[in-house]
This record gives sequence, structure tokens and C-alpha cells, in this order.
Amino acid sequence: MRKISFVNEKGGSGKTTLTINIGAYIAMQGKKVLILDMDPQGHIGKSLGIDVRRIDNTIFDVLVNEDVRLKETIRKTGIENLDIVPSNKLLTDFVINVADHEDRHLKLTKKLAELNEYDYVLVDCPPSLGLLTVNILLAVNEVVIPVSLTYLALDGCAEIVDTVKTVRRNFGKNDLDITMVVPTFYRNTNMANIILEKMRKYFGNRVSNTIIKFDVKIDQAQSFGKTIFEFAPKSPGAVMMEELAREVMKIGEDRLI
Ligand SMILES: Nc1ncnc2c1ncn2[C@@H]1O[C@H](COP(=O)(O)OP(=O)(O)OP(=O)(O)O)[C@@H](O)[C@H]1O
Ligand SMILES: [Mg+2]
Repeated sequence: MRKISFVNEKGGSGKTTLTINIGAYIAMQGKKVLILDMDPQGHIGKSLGIDVRRIDNTIFDVLVNEDVRLKETIRKTGIENLDIVPSNKLLTDFVINVADHEDRHLKLTKKLAELNEYDYVLVDCPPSLGLLTVNILLAVNEVVIPVSLTYLALDGCAEIVDTVKTVRRNFGKNDLDITMVVPTFYRNTNMANIILEKMRKYFGNRVSNTIIKFDVKIDQAQSFGKTIFEFAPKSPGAVMMEELAREVMKIGEDRLI
């Protein structure tokens, strides 16, 4: 079971979009995929047309209640093989609820250990590096960093690298790696090209070959609660997402970093 998190403390870098569309594509190839929404914004559910404000049984219940099993909160989606555990605003209370628990960093790790029926678990992260993100980094093995090609984007990258190193060191989590860095929101401008060049210098072959360009269809798809493959399967956005998903699937084969 591959466990991949999509991390960037910078908001709007493409975490949710990649999680949803890569997850959908992999599921469409016949692999069993579970997406966990660890962001109180609840965007995974929203992106699939679920009104997350009104739902019970979210990831919050799993994380704060000893007796709620992850399995009980899993929902099927309109895409075969793609399941999700949604979240909503309640998740902001997580930190307060577990503040005095000794195992507060390991809540997700413990619950995820009960699962083995999926080929992939993808985790959508909040735009911050607090206790939720530490829970995620301890529960997964792979970190994918989407980086919007804008000024200051590299700052955010450096922060994540530091956080991953700290988690590895402080928690002895040696099987955690940054497996891919994905340039997003690419436009052919000097600025974007310089940032891309810097990323390649720093991350080498961890930078994905697929560069995600701006395609309004991707945004529209989300607003209709659909993946790009359902909404505009022939669009450039769908082609880019497919190429990227194929790269992600390959990491475990010929691209182990
Ligand atoms: N390649 C793209 N082209 C056009 N719009 C995009 C593209 N990728 C993402 N978007 C849109 O940009 C917005 C931000 O993307 P997304 O929600 O994936 O970022 P995020 O990193 O998850 O944000 P947050 O940090 O708030 O969770 C969304 O409205 C999404 O539909
Ligand atoms: Mg998001």
C-alpha cells in the first residue's frame, strides 16, 4: 500500500487538485485508491460534489475517538475504486482535542495501520505545518510537493524540506521521502522559467517531467464537483493530469528515489 501525501504550506498551490485527479486516474486504472482529507477546508468532498458542512463521520471522528474505525468513515465516490474520507470545519478542533494526549502525533498512523485493502492512500494536506501535518508525515512514506511557479514559491519548498528532515530526525521516521516536486500554474514567463530552473537545480530528477499549466477547465471541473476526467476528458488539463498520474504510479517501479 503506497501512502502519498500532497504537502505545501502555501495555500492554492494545487494540493487538492492533484490529490483528486491523480487519485481518480489511478482508480480508473483498476487500482484501489483511498483519499483522506486532512484539511479543515473540506475541499476533497467539495471537489466531488459533497456538501461537507452537513456530514457526520469525518476524519475528525477517526482522529479524536479511539473507538471510531477509519473503515466506518469511508465513502464510495462516483468513480469505481475511488473512496474518500471527507473532512469539514470540525477538524480545526483536532489540536485542542488531543493537546494533552501523549500519542497526539500518531493518531493517523494508528488508524491507518488498520487498513490494508487499498493499493494507494493519498492524503490532502492543509496549508500549514502544524500537528495535522505532522500526523500526516508520520503516517505516510511519500511526500509530493506541488509548487506554483510564482515568486516566494521556493521559500515554501525550503520549509517543507526542513519539516520533512525534522520529522525524520525527531521521530526516527527514516522511510519518509520527498518523492516528487510538481511545478503547477505554469505560464511561459521569464519569472516562471527562472523558478523552474531553480527547482530543477535543487531537487534534480525529483521534479516531475509533467509541468501543470493553467487550464481553466481544471478549475471549472472542481466547481462542478467533478474530476477533470469526467468534466473535460479531452482537455489539456486532463492530458496533464494523466501524464502526472502515470509518473506517480511509476515512482515505485523505475523511479524509486
Ligand atoms: N492547473 C490549473 N489550472 C487552473 N486552475 C487550477 C489549476 N490547478 C488548480 N487550479 C485551481 O486553483 C485553485 C487552488 O487549487 P487547489 O485547491 O488545488 O490548491 P490547494 O493547494 O489545495 O489550496 P489550499 O492550500 O487552500 O488547500 C482551485 O480553485 C483549483 O480549481
Ligand atoms: Mg487544498
